[in-house]
Amino acid sequence: MADAPETAGSTLWHGRFVGGPDAALMAYTVSLPFDRRLWLDDITGSRAHVRGLARVGLLTSAECDSVLVALDRVEAEMAGGTFEYRESDEDIHTAVERRVTELAGPAGAKLHTARSRNDQVATDLRLWCKRELVELARGLYDLQQVLFTRAIEAGGTYLPGYTHLQRAQPVLLAHHLMAHGWAFARDIDRLLATVDRLDVSPLGAGALAGTSLPIDPAGTAADLGFARPFDNSLDAVSDRDFVAEALFDLALVGVHLSRIGEEWVLWTSEEFGFAVLDDAFATGSSMLPQKKNADIAELARGKAGRLIGNLTGLLTTLKGLPLAYNRDLQEDKEGLFDSVDQVNLAVAALTGMIATAAFVPDRMQAAADADVTAATDLAEYLVRQGTPFRDAHAIVGQLVRRHLAGEGGLAALAAEVIDADAAALVAPGVGVAQRRSPGGAGPAAIGAQMDAFRAMLDAQRTEFVRRSSDGS
Ligand code: ARG
Repeated sequence: MADAPETAGSTLWHGRFVGGPDAALMAYTVSLPFDRRLWLDDITGSRAHVRGLARVGLLTSAECDSVLVALDRVEAEMAGGTFEYRESDEDIHTAVERRVTELAGPAGAKLHTARSRNDQVATDLRLWCKRELVELARGLYDLQQVLFTRAIEAGGTYLPGYTHLQRAQPVLLAHHLMAHGWAFARDIDRLLATVDRLDVSPLGAGALAGTSLPIDPAGTAADLGFARPFDNSLDAVSDRDFVAEALFDLALVGVHLSRIGEEWVLWTSEEFGFAVLDDAFATGSSMLPQKKNADIAELARGKAGRLIGNLTGLLTTLKGLPLAYNRDLQEDKEGLFDSVDQVNLAVAALTGMIATAAFVPDRMQAAADADVTAATDLAEYLVRQGTPFRDAHAIVGQLVRRHLAGEGGLAALAAEVIDADAAALVAPGVGVAQRRSPGGAGPAAIGAQMDAFRAMLDAQRTEFVRRSSDGS
């Protein structure tokens, strides 16, 4: 057996090099400051890898045991905050392997057999995503639950529905809240589908091409709880589609949160006055004593830009990369961690803000009872009498023009030009009840929607339970 050369190197690659790396190189290329977050997944991946090596006879069971004991120790040190990182630990993988080798001696030097950091980092990041994206989706589930609860509490309260931010037709507040709820339901589905698609183990791809050693990628995939092993080693180490997908999912969640944010900025303004924030979820001004600001809502709107930036940043990094691993891929992590953190923070804050705010039904309903929001109901009334819709539209359009020119209330004009039943449609609170069609905004249709939403929540809850009992 050949002896290890006497080079006193500190890097993983010192054998081929004369002298150590320059400080500027280390400062520029290290990823430890951010990939430390993968420590537990790195240890989990290493455990499966050494067990796999032992199964195929590349490690004796004694060697395997001593590496596993060392990994337990590393885990305890990292969990307890006593792990001592060295300046030469360029990333988490180096730090873990370096410490295992210190603890387990010659057996530790076998840990990296038939493995590269290229398949290792891809494995770690997939394990991280499987756990963290499901956790984040659970947070979104809580937000949906709050929207649903507030929709139930809203009862018959209605407000103007808007197009172009102009009052269009009255809608139930419940209907409005649930519209956001359905968007988050799609976000949850999308995140879980992303998790299912990324459930592939890259471990065993090596640096790019596999190995001459008799490893068993299917065995380590199963050990790690992945649905299956990779099919192509080049793809396994260079594929970051899963990160891009996660960033898209998170950017879209961010866009949904931003749209709610924009609405709540309006709703809590004195001009709208549709909602009042709880003090615990509002901020004040350092100079203007009277101010109560919706900073959570504004940041939900503002941070969407950053989430979209993280997605476009990664796509731009990926687009020029030849196969297989390139160091550019190290850029996948900071944006991902940032997007996950930012969405988690936003979801928690918005959930609390919406759960605790007080709606102001009088203001909402007064805005919705403006005469003109009944215009479509008048046109549809004429349609029920047999008038073609385009003619009905023109007739009511003329009434609205006369009303806006100061010729009288819309009810009076409708009584004059159409009849008394038509005029009654302009009365406060009548309009919202006219939206009877399935999926529509009125009380006749909302029950079926609430039932469907409840069933969807139940199905999602079952799915989350299944995933926790699977460990996936
Ligand atoms: N820190 C690297 C990353 O995050 C790990 C892989 C490094 N591989 C290499 N061959 N330099 O991508």
